[in-house]
Amino acid sequence: MQSNIYRSHTCGELTAANVGASVTLSGWVHRKRDHGGLLFIDLRDNYGITQVVVDITKPELAGVEKIRPESVITVSGSVVARDSAVINAKIPTGEIEVVAVAIKILAESEVLPFQVFGDEESNEELRLKYRYLDLRRERMHHNILFRNRVIKSMRDKMWDMGFSEFQTPILGATSPEGARDFIVPSRLHHGHVYALPQSPQQWKQLIQYSGFDRYFQIAPCFRDEDLRSDRLLEFYQLDLEMSFVEQEDVMGVCENLLVGLVTEFAPTAKLHADIPRITYDDAMLKYGSDKPDLRIPIEIVDVSDIFRDSDFTIFADAVKSGAVVRAIPAPGSSDKPRSWFDKTEEFAKTELGLAGLGYIVFGIETKGPIAKKLTAGQVESIRVRCGVSVGDSIFFVCEQPGIAAKAAGKLRKRFGEEIGLDPKEFKICWVVDFPFFEADEESEKGIMFGHNPFGRPQGDLQNLDLSEPLKLKAAQYDMVMNGEEVGGGGLRNYDPAAMLKLFEAVGYGEDVVREKFGGMYTAFQYGAVPTGGLAMGVERIVCLLLDEPNLREITAFPTNQRGQDLMMGSPNTPFEKQLREAHIQFRKKN
Ligand code: AMO
Repeated sequence: MQSNIYRSHTCGELTAANVGASVTLSGWVHRKRDHGGLLFIDLRDNYGITQVVVDITKPELAGVEKIRPESVITVSGSVVARDSAVINAKIPTGEIEVVAVAIKILAESEVLPFQVFGDEESNEELRLKYRYLDLRRERMHHNILFRNRVIKSMRDKMWDMGFSEFQTPILGATSPEGARDFIVPSRLHHGHVYALPQSPQQWKQLIQYSGFDRYFQIAPCFRDEDLRSDRLLEFYQLDLEMSFVEQEDVMGVCENLLVGLVTEFAPTAKLHADIPRITYDDAMLKYGSDKPDLRIPIEIVDVSDIFRDSDFTIFADAVKSGAVVRAIPAPGSSDKPRSWFDKTEEFAKTELGLAGLGYIVFGIETKGPIAKKLTAGQVESIRVRCGVSVGDSIFFVCEQPGIAAKAAGKLRKRFGEEIGLDPKEFKICWVVDFPFFEADEESEKGIMFGHNPFGRPQGDLQNLDLSEPLKLKAAQYDMVMNGEEVGGGGLRNYDPAAMLKLFEAVGYGEDVVREKFGGMYTAFQYGAVPTGGLAMGVERIVCLLLDEPNLREITAFPTNQRGQDLMMGSPNTPFEKQLREAHIQFRKKN
């Protein structure tokens, strides 16, 4: 580091090798301890902490003891070796201290709203309001620098795989990713708005049609959706798109990338080499989720047929009228107290909205409310089909297929969490073969695009069979790690006739296609290429690598849970002049 008036060294680099040197350090007063005439200051900067010893009996250093933590100072002094008894092996600078000769106060701190030093918990609103203080804390500082390194590594890996980095517009037209757009009123075009990109989806396809291959971007995306711990209003995607590719080509690139990141940033974790491809239908059946956590050693099993033929009339009748029965094994639970079974039932009623839960306990004897209603042969068939043995129990959900699958998935997750999931174990899988259309009562034809309207259905684009649209599968795939959707992508449609046919199926005519997606539709007329790609959620990946539960913990300046930035005061009331220029008048709140 080049020496200047503020520093000759950083606070993280002095060691025994520097003993005797005259140095200048600048940083924040991390912590101070007053030992009578001697004051010890832990001086902190981005790189580390160095202990400074101040003899406050010296006239030129008098008064330093009054300085508050988090004030910024410049210290000049000499490096001395610490006594062996006070060497701190936990920090790189722990063998030395700097004996101050002069101290200059650059900026004084007020009394702090919360401590930067130590692990004292403070509430999130306060942390976000004074985010610059929060980010000075060790864990947050580490998280943000870790995130930076992950992003650098993503970028390097993409360049190494032959991708080029692009930038696409932030002010654009709406891109339908299924969330609400943030809109920006136009000053020049009265009554018109830009939309901030929910993702650069259309742009990255247009980049391929412009003759570039292999695009990537660390892209800011904006989605006005309800916030949860795994969602932000603005977040970053590692977005990629490739020309002339099949599904496996895109998946190969993404596996390379994610496996590479886990190996690099969680080197001691257990990463499973096997990355299975699970169909959407199988995922919903076996795991009750389209983002299954494969660390949970439980598979849901359909046992509708056994119940249909049983004397347990409630389930038998329900199955005959379209319901299904899903069995969720709870390994090692047979000797749990009755209260555990009651609590599980309570969870099903209050959290899952189920009427109840049946169960069979395979203990020394087989018992439980459902066991009594079945024959010994039926109980044995269920046991064998679920692959459980003495010591386990099985819970049953009887509901319409969609509800049963999701409820069973939530029970599976609950049992998995009770068994205990290791955050240092990584299991990746692909969920493939999503339905292209979804049932949608509100739309004209009763169906809507399942995901991306520019996605490509499986099969021959030129001979699309739309006779049973809900059975049509999309060439779409999600990448899932430990139960989190870390990426989503697909192959794209590039055929204008197929595009019209697919839009027609949901009730949109050519006029709508031209009006809403004119740019893409026109581009399709001039030699569009088959492309495919995917986007990974940067924050979600960083969180998993760090075992942080909330995306806000790895984001420097996130909003609070209500989408407000309490530090900068956004959203806020615009000036009248701004409103006038943008031709805006707010409606009354109803
Ligand atoms: P998708 O909508 O699946 O696909 O988004 C891709 C990935 O982005 C992450 N993600 C989010 N992260 C934080 N906060 C959010 N609100 C949020 N929403 C999504 C997830 C998700 O898997 N254009 C397509 C990609 C493509 O088809 O190539 C798209 O955006 O990790």
